[in-house]
Amino acid sequence: MAPDMPDYTLLTRQLEALLDGRDWLTNTAQTCALIMQQVPELNWAGFYLQRQPELLTLGPFQGKPACNPIPFDKGVCGAAARNRQTQRIDDVHAIADHIVCDAASNSELVVPILRQGALWGVLDLDSPRRGRFDEADQAGIEALVGVFIARTDLPDFLS
Ligand code: SME
Repeated sequence: MAPDMPDYTLLTRQLEALLDGRDWLTNTAQTCALIMQQVPELNWAGFYLQRQPELLTLGPFQGKPACNPIPFDKGVCGAAARNRQTQRIDDVHAIADHIVCDAASNSELVVPILRQGALWGVLDLDSPRRGRFDEADQAGIEALVGVFIARTDLPDFLS
């Protein structure tokens, strides 16, 4: 394991212990705070939620104030939302419609959060280092999102 690679197995257990209630607001806040503290070389970690159709609204996050809202047809977060697939981007500047919230961000990992097969939101991580996120980071963060989903009552914002 690389020296700066977080122990995602341990982080998964820590998140399970931290999320001891099922409230979505508390759990989104705790999840991004844990990730920001424990995953090295991040400058932003947070949630965007689908509170209106095909639009991502900024939710709890750690880092600088960020872009809001983000439509499904824009940016890396929009791609994760409309494709319902994790986006792992080594160099965000190579993505034509990347939305610049902070010029310090160079790589990005966005994991979709599904509720009954529909897009509920995304977890977005940004790093100042190009190529910061590898396959192990993707698998680790997807596992953390799995814990978040299993331990949280996700409200249906759209009905
Ligand atoms: N860069 C993202 C926007 C969100 S921020 O990075 C916090 C994107 O292109 O979707």
